[in-house]
Amino acid sequence: WCQKMRTAFLLLLPSLCSRGLMGNLLKVLACAELEHGPIVFLDFEHAQPTEAETAVWNQVSAVLEEAHGILAELQSYNGAGQEIREAIQNPGDLALQEKAWNAVCPLVAKLKRFYEFSLRLENALRSLLEALTSPPYAPMQHLEREQALAKQFAEILHFTLSFDELKMTNPAIQNDFSYYRRTISRNRLNNQQLEAENEVNNEMANRMSLFYAEATPMLKTLSNATTKFVSENKTLPIEDTTDCLSTMACVCRVMLETPEYRCRFTNTDTMLFCMRVMVGVIILYDHVHPVGAFAKTSKIDMKGCIKVLKEQPSNSVEGLLNALRYTTRHLNDDSTSKQIRALLQ
Ligand SMILES: *[C@@H]1O[C@H](CO)[C@@H](O)[C@H](O)[C@H]1NC(C)=O
Ligand SMILES: *[C@@H]1O[C@H](CO)[C@@H](O)[C@H](O)[C@H]1NC(C)=O
Repeated sequence: WCQKMRTAFLLLLPSLCSRGLMGNLLKVLACAELEHGPIVFLDFEHAQPTEAETAVWNQVSAVLEEAHGILAELQSYNGAGQEIREAIQNPGDLALQEKAWNAVCPLVAKLKRFYEFSLRLENALRSLLEALTSPPYAPMQHLEREQALAKQFAEILHFTLSFDELKMTNPAIQNDFSYYRRTISRNRLNNQQLEAENEVNNEMANRMSLFYAEATPMLKTLSNATTKFVSENKTLPIEDTTDCLSTMACVCRVMLETPEYRCRFTNTDTMLFCMRVMVGVIILYDHVHPVGAFAKTSKIDMKGCIKVLKEQPSNSVEGLLNALRYTTRHLNDDSTSKQIRALLQ
């Protein structure tokens, strides 16, 4: 039956594709490995919040509305490398010191906005996890009933991976921030005002520096939050959360590996969306699940996911593979099969 549904679905694909736009593509049947029923049908484009979803949806939506602006700001973040270099090379030149300081301050204000956004994103994720795992429904039923929330979850992950990709390729961020901190601590004794005048006080600077020290700060924030969510809700079986994640991974994988899916070649944004969401949920799963994503018992088909990722003609593939290599927890466990390790080498 599952096979038949899948065939029927594939026949429908061209018409779904021809209507264009991101979400259609995510109308996917992911049958095989799902436990609680043969079908997931996620409509990531047209999903509208039902009445029961509205409260959470509105809350998350307010956060997501800012996400685009944050990414644009990060993308155009150029840093004050030049000014900092000149100031350091000419320590006696006060004008150059001031110039560097004036260049760095607005940048640090930006970094603070990004950091504060990560806290709002964390809260949004928490609300989604609560909604998508609350009794009495099974994770699969949740995803089917609350598609608009599932879509928001995907959008959060998409943002997260995009943000971290940009952050990772922009060394100016840490350079600017450490210059800022050095200047503040150097001047603390003779200029108490400096700090007071600034919107980033010492405590905030400490928290921000922990955040920016992470290779993938947004993802780390989310995986910390997911881990916390699971550990705080003792009555909630961990599987309810991890099944929600593995189901999303499955939907994205099927979506990426379905050759009949014609739009994949024209709409690279969409493929990238799927790739990032898939990698994002894998990493979360790996952090939250006691044995992780790479073990034999994992509900995520890691071999399939890595293979399909490697087949994508996208510049972002390497970055995403690196995210799997370096930001997961269990890849180097003994329980990880040689095959999976080899695939990621
Ligand atoms: C999880 O814990 C939070 C805080 O303790 C609580 O508000 C929430 O209802 C819990 N959710 C579930 C599904 O148990
Ligand atoms: C995640 O949690 C670890 C351990 O509690 C902490 O050291 C780290 O700073 C946290 N990272 C972020 C980005 O929240």
